[in-house]
Amino acid sequence: MCGIVGYISNHCVKSDLIKGLKKLEYRGYDSVGIALFDVNQNIKVLKNSGQIKDFISKYKNDTSDGHLGIGHTRWATHGVPSDNNSHPIFDQNETIALVHNGIIENYLDIKKELIDEGFKFKTDTDTECISNLISYYKNKNKDTLRSIKLTFQKIKGHAVVAIISKEDPGKIFGFKKGLAGSLRIGLSSNKISIASDLETIKSTSEKYISIDNKEIFVATLEDVLVISKDKKIEKEWISIDEKSETISKNNFDFFIEKEIHEQPEVFLSNFQNRVNFSSKEIDFSKELKGLNLDEIKRINLFGMGTSYYACLLASYWLEQISKIPTQCHNASEFTYRNPLVEENTLAISVSQSGETADTLSAANLIKEMKIPQIAITNTNNSELEKVTKNCINIGAKTEIGVASTKTFTATLEIFLLFAMYLAQKRNPGYPKTKIFQELKSMPSQIERILDNTKHIVDLAKLYSKYDNFLFLGRGYNYPVAMEAALKLKELSYVHAEGYPAGEMKHGPISLIDSKMPVFCIITEGSHRDKMISNIREVKSRNGKVIVLTNCSEKLDKSWYDDIIIFEKTEDLLSPFLSSVSIQIFAVNLALARNLDIDKPRNLAKSVTVE
Ligand code: AGP
Ligand code: GLU
Repeated sequence: MCGIVGYISNHCVKSDLIKGLKKLEYRGYDSVGIALFDVNQNIKVLKNSGQIKDFISKYKNDTSDGHLGIGHTRWATHGVPSDNNSHPIFDQNETIALVHNGIIENYLDIKKELIDEGFKFKTDTDTECISNLISYYKNKNKDTLRSIKLTFQKIKGHAVVAIISKEDPGKIFGFKKGLAGSLRIGLSSNKISIASDLETIKSTSEKYISIDNKEIFVATLEDVLVISKDKKIEKEWISIDEKSETISKNNFDFFIEKEIHEQPEVFLSNFQNRVNFSSKEIDFSKELKGLNLDEIKRINLFGMGTSYYACLLASYWLEQISKIPTQCHNASEFTYRNPLVEENTLAISVSQSGETADTLSAANLIKEMKIPQIAITNTNNSELEKVTKNCINIGAKTEIGVASTKTFTATLEIFLLFAMYLAQKRNPGYPKTKIFQELKSMPSQIERILDNTKHIVDLAKLYSKYDNFLFLGRGYNYPVAMEAALKLKELSYVHAEGYPAGEMKHGPISLIDSKMPVFCIITEGSHRDKMISNIREVKSRNGKVIVLTNCSEKLDKSWYDDIIIFEKTEDLLSPFLSSVSIQIFAVNLALARNLDIDKPRNLAKSVTVE
């Protein structure tokens, strides 16, 4: 969601800005813009609603350029996506231009005060109150940095901001207040690079700093001044030694297809340095230094969207395998309900991006409560890791598709291994041998699904004309059903609901008719026979049943319309295989509907507002 870039160089930076914005595209956005300090020392703003390719085509004959500039991908929160509301946003005199990620919660009050002072507002954004407020203070004190500090103090809410000012050539100012994603500043001998993520500045920087909450900065080509609580602070420059990850679709048409196919590899790589198949031991101690897990009496899990469903499944595993009572929370609800958390609780916050504002709020609250906490993320040095200090990386490498696929299964894998790790002390009698044996073959089992997708693809095409779906499951299959419904909604824009199968007769059953395909996930496990009853209840009401199963021999053909079969495994491992099957179904149903499966409408990869 929304991204910021900025460059200062000895050379012209327009092409860097566009390259940077393209790298941020995966986050999700609806408008694009840049502001350049041009050769005449004027600020030139180019912007439009739509995609970067539309921006490039609109300005293909524009020759303006300069040695300093800022850019933005907007994800509208206040005001429709339009050329006018796109960032950079000027102050009324067009001497200050800025880009903003986040939401200003008191913007109406500020706007009213400034209108009373004679200010004119030209956009519907909350952002314009920042540029006009800086301008207002500057009219009085003539000092840009001081005006930014006063603005910083006055605004409430969440803001990461990069600012240029006509009277301050050679400088990019900015700040971070609250939760609105990351901001990194990279340095090399001839360039300052600023961006919302590390990946974007890697190729043009030798080292970088992160701007943290309540910090204000002034960047020039020579130096970066960072101020916190009105005092200059020294930030630790971190050297960038990893080469920039090459991001390509390989031979696939879409990133998400490639990412689904990367799952066996990711699964395998997560064993490294954690799983010892000979001694049947798991080790997380190197990743979680200084965290004593022996006294833990309870585990609380936090996440949103797919990460929340990963937590939901993990809560089953943590209880069954490690025998530690576990609760799973939707992070956005937890934060604002004055929650009670018992002593000796371990909190685990999950976010593939490490930037989700709802999850960060919950993690911050947990930190205030002084509860030990671990983050599970796919991003090194993420905002979430800064809060939790302890972090396990899911090792899925960059996921460009907005809908999570490989990061879901990688998060699940980490949770499963972590549950086994805790069980070594807490429940040593768990069925170790069987689980280790099957875990080893999981990458190949996933691979076999990916090598034989024809039947699922055909079914997806067949069902692509339906507009409503129900996904049902019991036990481990319930979180899978929830994630399946989310995947189908996100990718195909069809209405899909996930339910625990036992809940169906308490309401959703009234929806069932021949126009409502019901996806029933049934596996060889303790819930199998109860699930059979649920399947029969659907079929008796003329529902269209698709079963997704590893126990087809227990199902009579008259009970269902279509069937997807995956290999038998220990029941607690079956979610890996059912989830991958459903990802293939959802992607292909969306393709049959001619949709952009990498960038579904309205969605953002990093949801940096609450
Ligand atoms: C997943 O397909 C969605 N894009 C979304 O639900 C996502 O899982 C959610 O926004 C949380 O993201 P996070 O893992 O980066 O915190
Ligand atoms: N709230 C601002 C707007 O709607 C910024 C949105 C964003 O973070 O992209 O313009």
